[in-house]
Amino acid sequence: ASTLGAAAAQSGRYFGTAIAAGKLGDSAYTTIANREFNMVTPENEMKIDATEPNRNQFNFTNGDRVYNWAVQNGKRVRGHTLAWHNQQPGWMQSLSGSDLRSAMINHINGVMAHYKGKIAYWDVVNEAYADGNSGGRRDSNLQRTGNDWIEVAFRTARAADPAAKLCYNDYNIENWTWAKTQGVYNMVKDFKSRGVPIDCVGFQSHFNSNSAYNSNFRTTLQNFAALGVDVAITELDVQGGSASTYASITNDCLAVSRCVGITVWGVRDSDSWLGANTSPLLFDSSGNKKAAYTSVLNAL
Ligand code: XIL
Repeated sequence: ASTLGAAAAQSGRYFGTAIAAGKLGDSAYTTIANREFNMVTPENEMKIDATEPNRNQFNFTNGDRVYNWAVQNGKRVRGHTLAWHNQQPGWMQSLSGSDLRSAMINHINGVMAHYKGKIAYWDVVNEAYADGNSGGRRDSNLQRTGNDWIEVAFRTARAADPAAKLCYNDYNIENWTWAKTQGVYNMVKDFKSRGVPIDCVGFQSHFNSNSAYNSNFRTTLQNFAALGVDVAITELDVQGGSASTYASITNDCLAVSRCVGITVWGVRDSDSWLGANTSPLLFDSSGNKKAAYTSVLNAL
């Protein structure tokens, strides 16, 4: 196969990218994105601040722009994200307690109703665990509503759209030896044992010198999959753009039958949230394929 999407499809997987609505008028961008990828994650357009800028007033203008571009070009969509401590609209940031809990449930219901039956995977909860050695939850206004906020989000999501696969998504959970990884693993194990509806875990996979890729990522993917969930690499970028690191990550996913696909967090280096100077993606800022691109394509 000669594109990332077609190569991934050979083993029943997808290869995706983050897409920004504001770049859909850039034909250099859309040409590469349309040719290479068969899964799309809206980079910001389905986040809480974008979809519910005022309480109970939903806005799907930009979410629909990305969704429609994806579907009109034959791609599926990963929804991102319904409950998160970041990119909350101001009205939500100032809520707490049962009022915030109700607002979270209302938000999940409002967004999922709009996209009902249309989203392959939803990141229901994003980044709920703390960095460092605690292995526990991150402090946030959502966490302070009660430790059960995550399972409430998943139960609400299942009822709102039974067709969507429901994912927990986080960063720094790729290294099996890290406390944060163990914390999330124990949550998923507990959810599966109690019947809390969770279908998948997304490993953001933002690799850099502080959070370096480690070959035990494959063990992590295998161990989570063994709990009975799909796993996916959801926001991949590698600062410095090492071709061999990109190949190893690709091979880690391919080695795990429940690893359903890989999504990179942007098309060209100039599209990256990290800045083009970090060279983290598969295409350079002029749209040329990088060595990392070739190594991924050859690995698939
Ligand atoms: C980033 C976007 O790429 C930026 O455009 C935005 O300014 C901030 O958010 N983890 C996530 C993503 O789950 O939503 C983040 O995306 C990157 C880190």
